[in-house]
Amino acid sequence: MKAIVYRDFGTSDVLNVENIDKPTPADNEVLVAVRAAAVNMFDWYMVRGKPAFFRLILGSGKKPLGVDLAGEVEAVGRSVTRFKPGDHVFGTGRGKGVRSKAGSFAEYVSTPEKTLAIKPRNVTFEQAAAVPVAGLTALQGLRDHGRLQRGQKVLINGASGGVGTFAVQIAKAFGADVTGVCSTRNVDMVRGIGADHVIDYTRENFTAGATRYDVILDIVGNHPWSAVRRVLTDSGKYVIVGGPPARAIPLMVLAPFTRGKLVLFIARAKPDDLGLMRELIERGEVTPVVDRSYKLEETSNALRYVAAGHTRGKVVVAINRPEESA
Ligand SMILES: NC(=O)c1ccc[n+]([C@@H]2O[C@H](COP(=O)([O-])OP(=O)(O)OC[C@H]3O[C@@H](n4cnc5c(N)ncnc54)[C@H](OP(=O)(O)O)[C@@H]3O)[C@@H](O)[C@H]2O)c1
Repeated sequence: MKAIVYRDFGTSDVLNVENIDKPTPADNEVLVAVRAAAVNMFDWYMVRGKPAFFRLILGSGKKPLGVDLAGEVEAVGRSVTRFKPGDHVFGTGRGKGVRSKAGSFAEYVSTPEKTLAIKPRNVTFEQAAAVPVAGLTALQGLRDHGRLQRGQKVLINGASGGVGTFAVQIAKAFGADVTGVCSTRNVDMVRGIGADHVIDYTRENFTAGATRYDVILDIVGNHPWSAVRRVLTDSGKYVIVGGPPARAIPLMVLAPFTRGKLVLFIARAKPDDLGLMRELIERGEVTPVVDRSYKLEETSNALRYVAAGHTRGKVVVAINRPEESA
């Protein structure tokens, strides 16, 4: 089967399409014929080998790439109970995280049952592949770490990107009053996916405004805590999703002294949360925003586009079945 692999760390040019052995599912695994995979910043960090501990864990030699996927179940291991051949599924294709031997930029992935859920019926494979990492990050950030309640004010900094477009829609579905922060060219799109208010960061700095927020979900990480703090309510939470990796360590040191107001977290692959995302999508409350779609052979271009940091929603790689591309 065809798969994206890389050996040396570097830029997107290190990626190759190679023929590798089709995986065989272990007892707890599901073999998925991948129809689409989505690109995440995480993939870029893996290729760069930064932060440096990725290099230690990944080592030299041939490495797979890709986490998010949607596809069709081809076979299941002996102890799998939730799926059968022919099911359409979505989820994450890296059951063992960074050390996983599988990557979703491939024609087939064998992944533990617990990393998958049945795909929402009303969206394409490409839209479904866009959901797992970005959708679960937005969901867990708002619900578990922000404790967002109906009627509360939430601000999403980075509302036009992969995580942000899910966060705006999930916050609306939870009944919040949503402010999205994005650049001029994305104002209409962010309003179109449900934001009640939009702040154009090229004209206005949200930390200098008069509004105070119950939850700030920060996907960009471009304002100091001292500035963000002044636009939080007394019980408000500042939930940090992303930003420059070098910013995370000082914030981790600071967090215990903020009375629980400043929270950093890493999203976790939970099948129940994938199930909730499916429900939100099938009810029409969340619609994945796909910016661009690339072919498997063009994965390095897709990665380069995401690494530049100006996507509008998610970037996906559509993977043809061999019989379709013949
Ligand atoms: N904690 C976790 O578990 C977790 C999970 C997933 C991702 N992350 C992290 O989250 C971050 C972003 O993820 P993502 O996939 O959503 O990124 P993304 O899709 O690449 O986001 C890019 C978007 O950010 C916007 N943007 C750039 N500068 C901005 C600014 N100053 N203010 C507001 N918006 C701005 C861009 O719009 P313009 O081009 O128009 O400016 C673009 O639409 C990364 O650091 C990633 O590592 C963390």
